[in-house]
Amino acid sequence: MDNVKYTSRRLAELFGLTPKQVVEIVGHRDGFGPRDLAVLRKAVRRPPEPFPHRKQLFLNFKGGTGKTSLSTSYAYRLAERGYKVLVLDLDSQGHATRCLGEEGSSFTKTLYDVLVRKTPLAEVTIETKMPGLWLVPANLAMSTVDLALMPMAGREFKLKNALRDVDKQYDFVVMDAPPSFGLLNLNALMAANDLVTPVLADFLSYDGLRLLFETIQGLEEDLSHQLENIFICVNAFNQTFRIAREAVDALREHYSEYLLHSVVRQCTKFAQASSEGCPVFGYDPDSKGAMDIEAMQLEVLGRIKDGLAARPDAARSAR
Ligand SMILES: Nc1ncnc2c1ncn2[C@@H]1O[C@H](COP(=O)(O)OP(=O)(O)OP(=O)(O)O)[C@@H](O)[C@H]1O
Ligand SMILES: [Mg+2]
Repeated sequence: MDNVKYTSRRLAELFGLTPKQVVEIVGHRDGFGPRDLAVLRKAVRRPPEPFPHRKQLFLNFKGGTGKTSLSTSYAYRLAERGYKVLVLDLDSQGHATRCLGEEGSSFTKTLYDVLVRKTPLAEVTIETKMPGLWLVPANLAMSTVDLALMPMAGREFKLKNALRDVDKQYDFVVMDAPPSFGLLNLNALMAANDLVTPVLADFLSYDGLRLLFETIQGLEEDLSHQLENIFICVNAFNQTFRIAREAVDALREHYSEYLLHSVVRQCTKFAQASSEGCPVFGYDPDSKGAMDIEAMQLEVLGRIKDGLAARPDAARSAR
């Protein structure tokens, strides 16, 4: 994320300052980057609105629905707001790792070591170039984790237990899941408070959703784990396609309780941003993609807050 550049206007917007004040505080007039966010935050002393600790999983068993693009951008935006955020890359493809500017193959340890070899999570966590954003990277070593977990006792609870050690360090843990059905994703579901499921506005997405909801029901019945929130987010929406509009109508009909009003529109900037190794907010904060994720995040946070206000006991159990 060395290439992430901010304008004085964007920094001013983020901190409620004028561009002139930004320049005065950071002490230079161009070449603004993520480090300047930390300087400004310290100077303005405006912490983010307190939010109860959340573990949020981006999962869909179907591939290519935008789990990585949305989760990394979502996590980055939380860090921009001033929250302490840990991203867990659960996918041996290491795409979230790459979207956050790191190369998975350069790391000798991943979550595999945490889940299988009991390595403390802190030992495999790295600091990204964005202040407030940490990452547990992934690489091909993760590909055998399901197999290694299979014979272990308490194999569904390994991630939940590992995260207990670091609960208090982070405001949010954001997990990017692989598009597979197995023990690792079961661990992720068991650890999560909230599930965010990106879906494409096509009818194939239904199969993935049905399997996901059956799995969630199984968790409730067999492992007594209840997710606090489930959010379905339509991604890569193009309203000029009739089929896309019909698919959203069908989602609204069957999953209205979970479907977010905000929709992430089709936006080429996601592909460009990931090829540059940065989330869409770092690449083009004025893009449709960035604006839509901003709206999606505000809706998710708002709904969680409303839910917690209605169930105060849930706020305490979120840790
Ligand atoms: N809103 C969008 N508009 C246009 N392209 C998008 C959008 N969201 C994601 N993409 C593109 O779609 C492709 C798949 O996205 P992404 O890798 O985020 O999906 P995924 O669900 O993580 O995939 P996988 O299942 O392989 O992990 C990428 O090329 C990405 O750039
Ligand atoms: Mg992915």
